[in-house]
Amino acid sequence: MTRNIALIRGDGIGPEIVEQALLVLNKVAALYGHTFTYTDVDMGGNAIDKWGDPLPQEMLQKCLDSDSVLLGAVGGPKWNDVPGPMRPEKGLLRLRAGMGVYSNNRPAKIWPQLASASPLKQEIVDKGIDFLIVRELTGGIYFGKHETLHQDGESVAVDELRYSESEIRRIGRIGFESARKRRGKLCSVEKSNVLDSSRLWKKVMHELAEEYPDVTLSDMLVDNCAMQIVKDPSQFDVIVTENMFGDILSDEASMITGSIGMIPSSSLGDTTCGLYEPIHGSAPDIAGKDIANPIGTILAAAMMLRYSFDLAAEADAIESAVSAVLDQGYRTADILPDQATGCIKVGCKEMGRLIIENLTKG
Ligand code: IPM
Ligand code: MG
Repeated sequence: MTRNIALIRGDGIGPEIVEQALLVLNKVAALYGHTFTYTDVDMGGNAIDKWGDPLPQEMLQKCLDSDSVLLGAVGGPKWNDVPGPMRPEKGLLRLRAGMGVYSNNRPAKIWPQLASASPLKQEIVDKGIDFLIVRELTGGIYFGKHETLHQDGESVAVDELRYSESEIRRIGRIGFESARKRRGKLCSVEKSNVLDSSRLWKKVMHELAEEYPDVTLSDMLVDNCAMQIVKDPSQFDVIVTENMFGDILSDEASMITGSIGMIPSSSLGDTTCGLYEPIHGSAPDIAGKDIANPIGTILAAAMMLRYSFDLAAEADAIESAVSAVLDQGYRTADILPDQATGCIKVGCKEMGRLIIENLTKG
């Protein structure tokens, strides 16, 4: 198979972690006889520095022309003072919207080797943590009108939260379809006791439920959901929620699995051209020190093989290699237990090298 992958190395630790994922993809290509070619794309702070724009049109076009996009992370304190529309994060939002990837899938699954890294009590972890957050990604408050006005002698800031029925229905379908492929439980998360957009959300989810009799739908208010995720995460199979609630809950969900550095995500729309990235940020404080954890990005590359290129065996091989390296006790700093437990601390490059060394054709 021949595929062209757009690579957005990004800012902070982005370039280091993407490099390791690229080396892993090259090993997969060599083992399985595929050809992966890469197109470098500037996006985020580096694109602001180089082009004066976090996502120039021709960079978006390169992504649209690719078979899928692999992204490290963008942003950093250097660009904190640039105006809203020119921020690095705006490049990411324009990329998501431009690619039409409205469905962001963020798995929260505990690796048994890292169970002790979870901040939750062992008896809660032992009940199992394996759920998926399906986050709406191209609508809601992120894409409403943002403005800061001057009224009655003071500043007033407005962010609009808008959802149409069709936007809710298409992400709802992804939620139901995902639950159908897992344990058949879908929890729709909203704030229908306060927000109109949430009341519409809930209504559409219940209409859809008629079409999916094999899936059990429940509703949960987002504040309660935040509590339930730490109280008993084993109750969740698939959570479907709007953009900002999904942003917040997915950080919480990643933390209970031990490290945000381990979690990949896929963003898909109606085509197979997806956007794959770890869910963590650009961590500028540790950039360039070779201590970042590349596993989230490597697992994002595995998700790309599985969901966009239909290469399940290759994706399995990457995930098995990661598991083998964890079994051998190798850990980057973020997943290193406090007590000496026979674990071996490694840097970003060494973690990548070990995963490649353990990668075999299954
Ligand atoms: C994420 C990030 C982004 C988001 C930021 C960088 C705009 O936090 O992917 O979760 O809020 O969507
Ligand atoms: Mg986030």
